[in-house]
Amino acid sequence: MTQDESNRIDLGVNVDHIATLRQARGGLHPDPVAAALRAEKIGADSITMHLREDRRHIQKDDIYKFSNLMLTHLNLEMAITEEMLEIACDLKPKDCCLVPENRQELTTEGGLDIISGFDMIKKACQILNGSEVRVSLFIDPDIQQIDATLETSASVIELHTGAYADANESRKKYELDRIIKAAHYANEKGLIVHAGHGLDYQNVIEVAKINVIKELNIGHSIIARAAFEGLDKAIINMIELMEQARA
Ligand code: PXP
Repeated sequence: MTQDESNRIDLGVNVDHIATLRQARGGLHPDPVAAALRAEKIGADSITMHLREDRRHIQKDDIYKFSNLMLTHLNLEMAITEEMLEIACDLKPKDCCLVPENRQELTTEGGLDIISGFDMIKKACQILNGSEVRVSLFIDPDIQQIDATLETSASVIELHTGAYADANESRKKYELDRIIKAAHYANEKGLIVHAGHGLDYQNVIEVAKINVIKELNIGHSIIARAAFEGLDKAIINMIELMEQARA
């Protein structure tokens, strides 16, 4: 993206859902790494891949392959487990976004509870910082969670925008105000503020207006729109091939 640096807002594209499609057939296509490289070429400022413990979409090979080819940088999203910390310390992505993970969930459901998980989270931040990985904590837009984050060595927070994205009209403003308040508070305290989850082509506008937010991480709505934007061409190409075969 090209903007005045002080007013810059970056887009991190999450390609997990390309991997979901690949895993549906257990083959090689569509390749999330190829999608990530195209996203970079077209203007993405970074790529997010969530390596889940159950490996339901992104695989370990994907994050290594992308890291060898990338032009921007990887934001590795992961749960705090020994295995994930080992992988992150070996791969050394620029950013690691720590998230809670629960095997039954369809997607990340809530932010980390920094207060109840403080010791474990602080230790994970120290381990990652020791490998020169910048840590981002995915938290709900809550002042107490921000205060607890300040006691860890994480320099970034990613504010969970899911409650705002899911809110009905009567609650939308309340949820947006929580994000605005949390973003400004965290920024004043010296944290770098990112946000994401559930952002789409409508609800992104109000969040992108919050000038202390430096990066938005967006996946599902982009991949969903890409499927429709690309559908016409994909069908036309198939019809052409079939007709040529009969010609
Ligand atoms: N940020 C975090 C921490 C996430 O867990 C997710 C979902 O994987 C996203 C951003 C992107 O959310 P969405 O796919 O709804 O845009």
